[in-house]
Amino acid sequence: MHFPSFTPILLIQLIHITALHGAKWTYSGQDGQQYWSKHYPYCGGPFQSPIDIESELLRFDPTLGPIEVQNYDLSPDEQLTLGNNGHSVQLSLPGKMYISSLPRRYTAAQLHLHWGSSSKPAGSEHLVNSRQYAAELHVVHFNSDKYPNMSMAVDKSDGLAVLGVLIEVGEFNPAFEQFLKFINGVKYRDQKVQIPGFNIRGLLPPRLDEYYRYDGSLTTPPCYPSVLWTLFRNPVTISRKQFVALATSLYSSHAQDSTPLPLNSNFRKPQAVDSRVVLVSFKEADESWISTGLLVPILVGSSLGIVLIVSLICCLLRQKRSGAPQDKNKGAGYNIGEKDEYGSRV
Ligand SMILES: *[C@@H]1O[C@H](CO)[C@@H](O)[C@H](O)[C@H]1NC(C)=O
Repeated sequence: MHFPSFTPILLIQLIHITALHGAKWTYSGQDGQQYWSKHYPYCGGPFQSPIDIESELLRFDPTLGPIEVQNYDLSPDEQLTLGNNGHSVQLSLPGKMYISSLPRRYTAAQLHLHWGSSSKPAGSEHLVNSRQYAAELHVVHFNSDKYPNMSMAVDKSDGLAVLGVLIEVGEFNPAFEQFLKFINGVKYRDQKVQIPGFNIRGLLPPRLDEYYRYDGSLTTPPCYPSVLWTLFRNPVTISRKQFVALATSLYSSHAQDSTPLPLNSNFRKPQAVDSRVVLVSFKEADESWISTGLLVPILVGSSLGIVLIVSLICCLLRQKRSGAPQDKNKGAGYNIGEKDEYGSRV
């Protein structure tokens, strides 16, 4: 038998994998999200993320001011680490970046994305009224007033603040291109490249004053309920090409693995809301339909309606004006041989 000679090596590798990286987890299959709570009990606990943000959950909070971020405009001279961790593509962020508009200072640590597949561009984690966007960006910050680093903050109830950005396919996004152009350098798990800094503010939507706010969790194991969530109301766009690059360039397997596993559809399903409410910083009605494909049909429809109503009124008026003397003929059908208004025979 050949097995005994390499079984110990396999065993050591298995122990090594589990000891260094914890239990393995994936989005589907044997270690998929429905089984996360077996090894990571918090994933089956309360205050989980993401959620479907439905209108019924919303409560306007006038105390929610605009999100303010500091030192997001990074110089190309400062190098950032772009990496593939087997679950997402992640960009490390320098400790000088922070959110200044929360009661505590939250210092940036990293950003990463969740996305669908090239055939199904629906991979955001948060849903808005059950709508799933193509992808979602998470800029992760930790409470640096209270904790010295990310690892000390990650499991504390007031430990993290994440800025979430919904992404749809549309216009090309030059800010996203600043790191997407290096994505082929991190095709495989645990690969890393250094990339020049750029303006991280450009990854966020223009308006930082309109957002949803709720208490939730990490959306990956160990699912600690430690996140103060801010999801911006307005999505950003990336082009079809940019989305396809994100959805098709990466693998969740190592470069040396014999079967490459594509890294896509890395989003967690919406979790139970339970007793939570979602606070909103804005009061206005949703007017997004104006800018969507609904505007033209609505305009055409209402124009046709107006034309119809005007013609109907015209018809009625005309009938009324010429109708009174004709009343005697009501229901008589054609008046063959009678004089018409010009005095000629019809
Ligand atoms: C985080 O801070 C703690 C406490 O100061 C320290 O023991 C730990 O090594 C730090 N971890 C990292 C990753 O820097």
